[in-house]
Amino acid sequence: MDRVELLKQQAGIEACIYVKNGMKVGLGTGSTVKHTVIELGRKINEEGLEIVGIPTSLATEKLAKKVGIPLIDLAECSHLDVVIDGADEVDGEFNLIKGGGAALVREKIVAQESLSMIVVADERKMVGVLGAFPLPVEITPFAYQSTINQLAKLLDCRVNCRMSGDNPVVTDNGNYIADAHCGPTINQPVYTEAEILKIAGVVQVGLFNNMCDVVVVAKDSGVEVLTNPNGRMV
Ligand code: 5RP
Repeated sequence: MDRVELLKQQAGIEACIYVKNGMKVGLGTGSTVKHTVIELGRKINEEGLEIVGIPTSLATEKLAKKVGIPLIDLAECSHLDVVIDGADEVDGEFNLIKGGGAALVREKIVAQESLSMIVVADERKMVGVLGAFPLPVEITPFAYQSTINQLAKLLDCRVNCRMSGDNPVVTDNGNYIADAHCGPTINQPVYTEAEILKIAGVVQVGLFNNMCDVVVVAKDSGVEVLTNPNGRMV
């Protein structure tokens, strides 16, 4: 396993300390939280952990079923106890860019329904100002090029439709992803999120502001747990 993969695994496994018997657990998407899902499956099978999971993507649903996590539909529960998810960037205020895996809509809905949000990341994800990672925006296929033009005008940067070969990437919700190459300039993420959401054709934006309570960050020197002083876990 290479260095970064090892860091992802360490963060993913450490985050399981936030999962207790009886909890309803949101299961995020991506190559870091994958390790959390695998470890939760192990704990269920080997240690008798009793939880139910709510996946944030079809890919995570498939993995969770494979490792033996019982799943329920979000519609079947009033709230989730915790969601554990990855991030593409985390700023000093615990605001996030997410959606590198094209799952941002379901991830945001699940985070919104959760009493707490734990982010798992390796140290490369920690930034001063958000935006070096292209900001993902889920948009409708209808008139997608017009929506992309509106985004480019608003953000004053290049915006691309995410492609898979010759075709746009299609999300689990049947939409497309626009990636906005803002550069590290998003220093008012709450304002930026609100402005992007005003554009017709935008389904959701991958800015997760004031949602993250804890970041479990794996560094070469060890795993560090950062608690948001304005979050729900202080
Ligand atoms: C998917 C996401 C992921 O959580 C994010 O892209 C981080 O993924 P990884 O852990 O693979 O770097 O937001 O939509």
